[in-house]
Amino acid sequence: MYQSKIAGLGKYVPENVVTNDDLSKIMDTNDAWIQERTGIKERRHIKKGDGNTTASMGFKAAKIALERANISKDEIDLIVFATLSPDYYFPGCGVQIQEMLEIDTCPALDVRNQCSGFIYGLSVADQFIKTGMYKNVLLIGSENHSGGLDFTTRGRSVSVIFGDGAGAAVLTRSDHVGQGILSTHLHSEGKHALELSLKGPSTNHWVPEIIAENLAAGGEDSQEDIPYYPYMNGQFVFKNAVARFSEVIMEGLKENGLDVKDIDMLIPHQANLRISQFIQQKFQLRDDQVYNNIQRYGNTTAASIPIALTEAWEEGKIKEGDTIVLAAFGSGFTWASAVIEW
Ligand code: UT7
Repeated sequence: MYQSKIAGLGKYVPENVVTNDDLSKIMDTNDAWIQERTGIKERRHIKKGDGNTTASMGFKAAKIALERANISKDEIDLIVFATLSPDYYFPGCGVQIQEMLEIDTCPALDVRNQCSGFIYGLSVADQFIKTGMYKNVLLIGSENHSGGLDFTTRGRSVSVIFGDGAGAAVLTRSDHVGQGILSTHLHSEGKHALELSLKGPSTNHWVPEIIAENLAAGGEDSQEDIPYYPYMNGQFVFKNAVARFSEVIMEGLKENGLDVKDIDMLIPHQANLRISQFIQQKFQLRDDQVYNNIQRYGNTTAASIPIALTEAWEEGKIKEGDTIVLAAFGSGFTWASAVIEW
């Protein structure tokens, strides 16, 4: 049995910065509300014509990760792409990355686990490397949220939260026993699927039908009734998030005979600064043991952990031998954790 480790990290975010004040010009919201409830000060949005898409941002992050890992595109055995906002309904973004990297052929797998997508993808990559089937896996999390949000007051409780961006990691076989991914834990609870969801267009709710319904309703439906914008039962999601984050972090630590005091760096999915602070307080972690950048990027779903991990590494906050814990919760509901010896 082999072990996998992260050999390189990269991130890309669009240049276009959208502040809370910018949003307050197009909907009934304000900087104070957004900062107090979420911690977010600004986020990045793709600008029409800047050439960014979910796949192309993922490609830019992947190029950096590959360079840092010193692994050529021809050495990639598998691409895993996590997103909830693919460029096309089908095929997935994984094959687009394969084409953009000019790899002749290779397996490319898309993961649809929303905010937990990166850790789900990490787990998939880890299993393939562990069994010896593959040596190098390119894992990407990328999202274009701004292309599909309701930027009217009706959608404000969701649209102020999400941002665009991408992060990538190259996983490779570890030469040192005990160094690398120690464990991953994955969960889901589909009974809450619609509490945080985008229902259409889908195979049972196609575009002409949606347009006709919206016209008939005069376009004045509540956020919940509009199937082509994301819906979130915010407080319900929040309550579940804090409980599941705690559980899955403890599950990962316990599996490895570790305790919260052994955590050198916790990188939570950037869902809401209040959630991260709740976890930090509960586990009595110092500020330097928890990495947050939601203030600058908002919630970038599958991209949030790899962007944060990349920044923490770039800032020298992750050192060899550190115990790193990743944790996520999101739509599905799905939640997951990974414990890594760096
Ligand atoms: O990444 C996946 C996981 N996601 C999460 O874990 C997110 C979990 N949920 C949350 O982060 C929070 O529930 C939100 C940030 C989404 C909302 O915060 P909240 O404290 O739960 O606010 P709320 O939805 O209860 O709304 C409170 C008030 C409402 O007004 P009334 O009914 O009290 O008059 C909303 O209409 O705030 C109003 N409101 C806003 N006001 C200004 C909602 N959105 C906004 C806004 N600006 N953007």
